[in-house]
Amino acid sequence: LMQGLMGKAVALAPDSWVPGGHPDPLIRRQHGHIGKPVSRLDGPLKVAGQARFAAEFPMDGMVYAAVFYSTIAKGRIVEIDAEAARAAPGVVLVMTHENAPKLKPTPIFLTDPKAAGGDGLPVLQDDRVHWNGQPIGVVLARTQEEADHAQSLIRVRYQAEEAATDFDQVKQAGARQAQFMGQPLHNEIGKAEQAFAEAEVKVEATYVTPRHNHNPIELHAVTLAWDGDSLRVHDAQQVVAHAAWTLAKVFDLKEDQVVVTSPFVGGGFGSKTLWQHQILAAAAARLAGVPVRLVLSREGVYRTVGGRSMTEQRVALGADRSGKLKALIHTGVTAKTSHNIMPEPFILPTRSVYGAETMLLDVQQVELDMIGNTFMRAPGEAVGTFALEVAMDELAEALGMDPIELRLKNEPEKDPTQGLPFSSREVEKAFRDGAERFGWSRRDPRPRARQEGEWLIGMGCATGTCPYYRMPGGAARLTLTRDGQAIVDVAVHEMGMGTATVQTQVTAERLGLPMDAVRFNYGDSTLPGLIMAGGSQQTAAIGASVIAAHRTLVGELLKLAGNDSPLAGLKADEVACRDGGLCGLEDETRFESYASILGRAQRKSVCVEAEPPQPMETMHWSMHSHAAMFCEAAVNVVTGEPRIRRFLGSFDCGRILNPKTAASQFRGGVIMGLGLALMEETQVDPRNGRIMNPSLSEYHVPVHMDVPDIDVIWTDIPDPHAPMGARGVGEIGITGTGAAVANAIYNATGRRIRDLPITLDKLL
Ligand code: MOS
Repeated sequence: LMQGLMGKAVALAPDSWVPGGHPDPLIRRQHGHIGKPVSRLDGPLKVAGQARFAAEFPMDGMVYAAVFYSTIAKGRIVEIDAEAARAAPGVVLVMTHENAPKLKPTPIFLTDPKAAGGDGLPVLQDDRVHWNGQPIGVVLARTQEEADHAQSLIRVRYQAEEAATDFDQVKQAGARQAQFMGQPLHNEIGKAEQAFAEAEVKVEATYVTPRHNHNPIELHAVTLAWDGDSLRVHDAQQVVAHAAWTLAKVFDLKEDQVVVTSPFVGGGFGSKTLWQHQILAAAAARLAGVPVRLVLSREGVYRTVGGRSMTEQRVALGADRSGKLKALIHTGVTAKTSHNIMPEPFILPTRSVYGAETMLLDVQQVELDMIGNTFMRAPGEAVGTFALEVAMDELAEALGMDPIELRLKNEPEKDPTQGLPFSSREVEKAFRDGAERFGWSRRDPRPRARQEGEWLIGMGCATGTCPYYRMPGGAARLTLTRDGQAIVDVAVHEMGMGTATVQTQVTAERLGLPMDAVRFNYGDSTLPGLIMAGGSQQTAAIGASVIAAHRTLVGELLKLAGNDSPLAGLKADEVACRDGGLCGLEDETRFESYASILGRAQRKSVCVEAEPPQPMETMHWSMHSHAAMFCEAAVNVVTGEPRIRRFLGSFDCGRILNPKTAASQFRGGVIMGLGLALMEETQVDPRNGRIMNPSLSEYHVPVHMDVPDIDVIWTDIPDPHAPMGARGVGEIGITGTGAAVANAIYNATGRRIRDLPITLDKLL
């Protein structure tokens, strides 16, 4: 069968990417859409200002909301004096726990397949305060300015209680085993501590990463209205279907009574889920009987939306003189809250990266009275690879070995903790190609060996890794019209990464249609599917759904074609799509166009909905995106200022569906990794748990001047076990980047910085 596909057509092989199955024939790029650098279809809309974001939808009679926040970390609200606010110009409503409607608890993310809640705390249901900055009320007014002014007039009296806000202090009192998705974050292979003690060469150190807050350019925002008992929500969402279900639970409604749409999102990174602000807006709209727009201020995002939690990680590596790892120990502690399920799982990358003889991996957690932490681009891997990959650099130095050779020496033959074979793993190629392109051979392994004027120059590298996921529940609807148009409907998301563009390519490729004959509808909870834009899995999940819908559609078309068609007698596995129709696989002259099939059947269109098989591939294969990261850093000998001069990411993520959008994802990840390495740090006042730098003026992220040209290359070797051969590209870029930067800075200066961010004061 596969030989027969070498011609022009795309086959419809059954089970084309289930475990042990065959590569998806689509991988053959028959129609030329897949792998093409198609520009984003939403680009013109965005440039022209015609792409409407959540805070831009107009609604008749709409009022504006301003949230106010607690100023203690724990305790009780004794009194809220809102008299002046109520009397202020334009004010429509002041809502506090005293007059808010009764609400059900918010289902927390991952506790139910449909849950989207960032925290599970009651929203204005009692007088309790759980973190410093918790929303404790909302003002509605005719204009945003009036709402902001009125909320500034509110005075609150508290009865404070002692709060756990100091990580170091709470840690002293003891931590407990952290769990992630129902499993303990713990792995053991052999007796690692003993092997470490006996190892010929060893390094051991503690690595510290701070708390991070989310800073997508688009502020978290919602515009919504009630129509009787139905709620219409324009949201900034990376999980529309989940958000609708969760809001229905909170307001005790039926699922179809809540509609959430989100056609465009200005960045998400794990933060654009359901937090208290959507619930506050919906509750206030219900109470006031008018539509409400609520846009969190930048400070409001810091107070309301959780980020990445801090970690303190121990990495101990023991090797023999050849560099073979005898012991790999990666343990440590992170902080979370009791109202969120997300301890930062920093050992996740370590589970699959190196074939050490013994391993001990463990995450302990403590609970703090603070804002619920959550997913932030490559949760676990972003900070876990920092600790692990700086430690590998330290071991390479202790061995007098090239850091790339050390890594390749320890390439695992199969997944060390799962025992599964890798679906596809081209780490060596990624490193060799990257080293060649970056000019790694010009690196002097001696620190502080290269200086240009005031600048010390160094090179470093690191491994990046991010798991492949595909979550279940992703039905898609596919409609084909007689005039040769295809429409895909699926409740997914466009956060700027190119979803609609790439899936239009995928659909056009499968159907043998031009790009402009395909419309991809998404961002609407009423569409089929329950697919999140998260875990770098949306592309694989949608692709699997489109493949399933396509197969079903072809079956329907063959039925409609009937006995009078040149296709008569052919089964779904014996035909292919090309040139706007179906043809025989063996004999391509047996062809009938979609228009002809539908015309003879007197049908204007045919519409199918199908779900892909359960995502079993990860039960049979260890599946990960891989990267080799290379950094050239300069550090000023007078000021200590670090600058990144060059960066190269060499990626192994399976087939690249669209080199333009993928390259942009890679670069975006690297840029966020540069921020993680050099700038990002949420500063919390340990006395009261208040975030002290809730703004982009004091919480630094990279700006253009901080970002050099970022070179990206990739293996483009299809993964035979992923739909379309593609693994994720969304998060891999931030993994390994922090370590590559730290290792380059070490090579430049001889200063080993183990606590992030690497600011100039640490380099003086
Ligand atoms: Mo994400 S942290 O997978 O949006």
